[in-house]
Amino acid sequence: DKGTYRHYMLKEIYEQPQAIQRTLEDRIQANHRIQPHAFGTQAPDIFEKIKHIQIIACGTSYHAGYVARYWFESIAGISCNVEVASEYRYRQSVLPENTLFVTISQSGETADTLAALREAKKKGIFASLCICNVPTSTLVRESDLAFITHAGPEIGVASTKAFTTQLVALMLLVVSVAKVRGLELAREQQIVQQLQSLPVILDSVLAMDKAIERIAEEFGEKHHTLFLGRGAHYPVAMEGALKLKEISYIHAEAYPAGELKHGPLALVDHDMPVVAVAPNNDLIDKLKSNLQEVRARAGELYVFADSKVHITPEIGLKVFAMPSVSDDIAPIVYTVPLQLLSYHVAVIRGTDVDQPRNLAKSVTVE
Ligand code: F6R
Repeated sequence: DKGTYRHYMLKEIYEQPQAIQRTLEDRIQANHRIQPHAFGTQAPDIFEKIKHIQIIACGTSYHAGYVARYWFESIAGISCNVEVASEYRYRQSVLPENTLFVTISQSGETADTLAALREAKKKGIFASLCICNVPTSTLVRESDLAFITHAGPEIGVASTKAFTTQLVALMLLVVSVAKVRGLELAREQQIVQQLQSLPVILDSVLAMDKAIERIAEEFGEKHHTLFLGRGAHYPVAMEGALKLKEISYIHAEAYPAGELKHGPLALVDHDMPVVAVAPNNDLIDKLKSNLQEVRARAGELYVFADSKVHITPEIGLKVFAMPSVSDDIAPIVYTVPLQLLSYHVAVIRGTDVDQPRNLAKSVTVE
C-alpha cells in the first residue's frame, strides 16, 4: 500500500529512518557496542581468522559494497576487493588465503550473485557471509553467515531503503571485524552512536525534499549528467547516477572527481548538469578545485555540501546545505538527496517511476 505517497519509491525513500532503526534493532547493546553474535554465533571465530575480504554484488548492492571497501580498509585495516558478480564469476581469479566472501543482495535471488558464491565455494573459500533483505532467500540458505537488513518489502524497482540499510549492515560488519583486530572500545561506541543518530539526521535531509523538487525542473530537458564524488563518496555518486538513469532515462555517469581532467572535462558545457557531493572531509579542498574546473567550462553545478563547508553560490552554482556529519556515516546521509533528485526528475519527465522500462525487481536470469 502506497498510503499517501504517489509512488512506492517515494514512500520507500521516506521509510529510510525507520528501516535503519529496524536494521539496528537487537544488534546493539545498551552500552553502544555491537552484539557479539550479530552476524551469527560462529562469526567471532571466523572473524579472528580472516585475512582478506572479497565483496560480490550487482547494481545498487554493488555500490553498497564499494562504499564498504573504503570502510574495511580504513577502519578494520583489512584488505578488501569489490567486484560485480557477472564479472567475477567468469574470471579466473586468485583467492587470497582466509578470505571472507561477502555477498550483498536485496532479494537474495540475483542469479549472477548466487553463481559467484557457488563458483567461489568450488574454489574453496574460507567462509561466506551475505547481507540480504529476504530471510527465506536462496542466498541466505547457501551462505555460512547471514545478516538480514529488515528494510521491509521494497516494491519500487529502483532500490532505495535496501541500499541505505545495506550500508548500515556493512558498517556493523566492518566494526565487528575491526574489533577482533584491535579496534578501541571508544571508537566502536562512537561509530555505533553515529549509526543510531541516522534516523534523526535522515529526517532532516528528507526535509530538503521541496528544495530538491524545485531544481529537478532544470534537469527535465537534459540528455546527459555527471555525478562527482571522492573517496567513499565516489560510489555514492555512482549510485546517484544509476538512480537517475534507471528511472528518468537521462544518461548519467559518475566520476571520481580527480579523474575529470583525464577525459570527461571535454564533455562539460552548459547543457550538462554536474551534481557533486561535498562532505566535510580531508578531500574537500581537492573537490573544490575540481568544481572550479567545471565552472571554468560553464558547467552547471549542483553541490550537496556539508553546512560547514564554504562554497559560495553563484550563477550556475547551486549549493544545498547538508547537515554536518562525520565522515563515517556521510555516505549514507549523502545518498538520500540524490534519491530525491532522481525521483523528482523522473516525475517531471512522466516516466513509470516504480516500474521503469526494461527492468525487473529481481534479476533471476543470467
Ligand atoms: C537498482 C537496482 C538493481 C539491483 C540489482 C541487484 O536500483 O535495484 O541494480 O540492485 O539488480 O539486486 P539484488 O540486490 O536483489 O541482488
